[in-house]
Amino acid sequence: MKVISTEYSQILGARISQRLGVGLVDVRFSKFPDGELYLRTGAIDEEMIVVGSVTGSDALVQLLLLIDACSESENRLVIPYMGYARQDKQFKPGEPLSARAIAQAVANGVRCICTVNIHDEDVMRHFGLPTVNVSLGKDIGAYLKSEFSNPIILAPDDGARYFAEKIAESGNWEFDHLEKTRISGELVRMDPKNLRTAGRDVVIVDDIISTGGTIAAAAVMLYEQGAKSVHAACVHGVFTGGAYTHLAAAGIKSVICSDTIERACSEVSAAGIVSKALSEC
Ligand code: R5P
Repeated sequence: MKVISTEYSQILGARISQRLGVGLVDVRFSKFPDGELYLRTGAIDEEMIVVGSVTGSDALVQLLLLIDACSESENRLVIPYMGYARQDKQFKPGEPLSARAIAQAVANGVRCICTVNIHDEDVMRHFGLPTVNVSLGKDIGAYLKSEFSNPIILAPDDGARYFAEKIAESGNWEFDHLEKTRISGELVRMDPKNLRTAGRDVVIVDDIISTGGTIAAAAVMLYEQGAKSVHAACVHGVFTGGAYTHLAAAGIKSVICSDTIERACSEVSAAGIVSKALSEC
């Protein structure tokens, strides 16, 4: 067995191969003059673990090319961050079910699929294969335990409440959720909720930080209510449109994510939990 990864999941791919004690395939990536992607792999094995986050169009195409390059092998696929999973419904007439389109494309040529905190587990059915979705709640909780003594853990909406609960279990901390209404892709409204956050260190936790709008709006409200410090932790640090700066400017004292998207603030690794989950896949 060997591990192979796209350019977008190089660090996590190497960590998974170390965890599993198996070889890592060297891959060279380049582009043709017209912009088409090209790759060439080193020697692959009969059994392959293919790792690639779908962070955008090039990441998706690279992943499809990699799966095809491994077409002689029996492949298990790890999608650490599955982009497009938020478009999992037809919200307006004429819209695609993007999550389904991506799921069907990557499922071709693999035996099973492992995802990490996929935005909605319902998306898994579109793969049409055995799947396992793991959560980094415990790992993020363990990281926060090394940084804070008694934080309050807040989810920005009720959809992330269970995730906040799992993180809070690590230190037996208080947790709750805020009331969020999304107005547009960039704008959210956070309705005041009276929480016992005055004088406390607050960590807002979410699966994805994209524009940072959700967390920044929450931070404004929490500081108005007297929070001592506000921090953010997520699984997938998308950080689009200068989101990290936006959060720092909004007074967020620290922002961390995992290596499902490889960032300078990727303090938590998915390698351990993914390696374990692969035995069920
Ligand atoms: C939405 O349901 C997700 O869980 C996140 O709350 C959302 O993607 C965050 O987006 P943004 O950082 O753009 O507010």
